[in-house]
Amino acid sequence: MTFGLGEWGADQATSRAIFDAYREAGGNFVDTADIYAGGESERLLGSFIADAGVRDEIVLATKFGFNASANPLAAGQAGRGNPHAGGAGAKNIHRALDASLRRLGTDYVDLYWMHIWDGVTPVGEIVQTLGDLVRAGKIRYYGFSDMPAWLACKAATIASERGVPGPIAIQVEYSLVARDVEAEHVPVAREGGMGVIPWSPLAGGFLSGKYRREDTSGTGRLSGANPFGDSKFSNRNWDILDTLTTVADELRRSPAEVALAWTLHRPGVASTLIGAREASQLEGNIAAASLRLDPEHLTRLTAASAPVPGFTASLTAAPIRRMVFGGHDVTGWEE
Ligand SMILES: NC(=O)c1ccc[n+]([C@@H]2O[C@H](COP(=O)([O-])OP(=O)(O)OC[C@H]3O[C@@H](n4cnc5c(N)ncnc54)[C@H](OP(=O)(O)O)[C@@H]3O)[C@@H](O)[C@H]2O)c1
Repeated sequence: MTFGLGEWGADQATSRAIFDAYREAGGNFVDTADIYAGGESERLLGSFIADAGVRDEIVLATKFGFNASANPLAAGQAGRGNPHAGGAGAKNIHRALDASLRRLGTDYVDLYWMHIWDGVTPVGEIVQTLGDLVRAGKIRYYGFSDMPAWLACKAATIASERGVPGPIAIQVEYSLVARDVEAEHVPVAREGGMGVIPWSPLAGGFLSGKYRREDTSGTGRLSGANPFGDSKFSNRNWDILDTLTTVADELRRSPAEVALAWTLHRPGVASTLIGAREASQLEGNIAAASLRLDPEHLTRLTAASAPVPGFTASLTAAPIRRMVFGGHDVTGWEE
């Protein structure tokens, strides 16, 4: 997402350095989207992969869904583009995929994500279109990002009942300070055989520890207007960061490494995306892949960041289970 982005991203030379550092460390899974930097992210990535001659070694993921013909949020734009150039209807998916393949300079995508739910297209049509693209060989697999949990569940069920290719993964915001998805999305993914791929595992840089409660002015993505519209600088998040920093100090690792390692230890997580604006950030963060957190550290981090239990969590609480099983403690699959 940072490749080719002017504001808080990386220019061409820096993007190439990040890609090279990632490959050097053994990385083989890259995530982009048609909308990132107006298509420039895909163009850059395609050229790096071609120059390195490594297309077959890379698991290349990109996304469709957002509309590039007009962005009502962008300054100076009228916000009246082609409504058929976005969303998950068959017409847009075919258009978007062909454009992505051209920019990426390849004839197939390994993992094709629906970037955002459009709230309109019937789930059966989405499954049909994406399943057909798998069968045609233009994409190898598909998954859903930023959607209600029921949609992924319904899609997986329709696909298995119809005997057509179904979704294999979900991509959702997931980090020590963003755990809402544990209520519905993670259980759905595990039940439906989908891997969970977190985005913003460092909460856009917050969990690197470079911002301070008393001074948030330091340079970084979160110091300007937050591109995702919410503020990470809440009292709750500062408290979580305090625990993270203490654990990181004890382990003599950076907070970013420990935060990423915690994410990788979570049930259902298959892999994590990592964001970077420069190669040095990536090189440091990659060390998280080899960090095994012991149960004591994991418990402290998990407890300090525990979300307020909602309705779904209350259904499987121990006292309720005992009421169901005649006083016996029966653990469910979610544990
Ligand atoms: N599906 C979706 O809707 C969606 C949404 C968002 C992202 N994504 C995907 O997820 C990927 C990762 O998301 P993200 O970039 O938000 O992840 P992130 O890891 O939470 O944030 C990455 C940012 O944190 C800062 N940072 C990273 N390591 C650091 C370090 N060691 N020290 C200090 N600062 C550090 C950098 O920004 P600064 O230096 O500028 O502060 C970097 O760009 C994206 O590239 C994209 O592919 C998907």
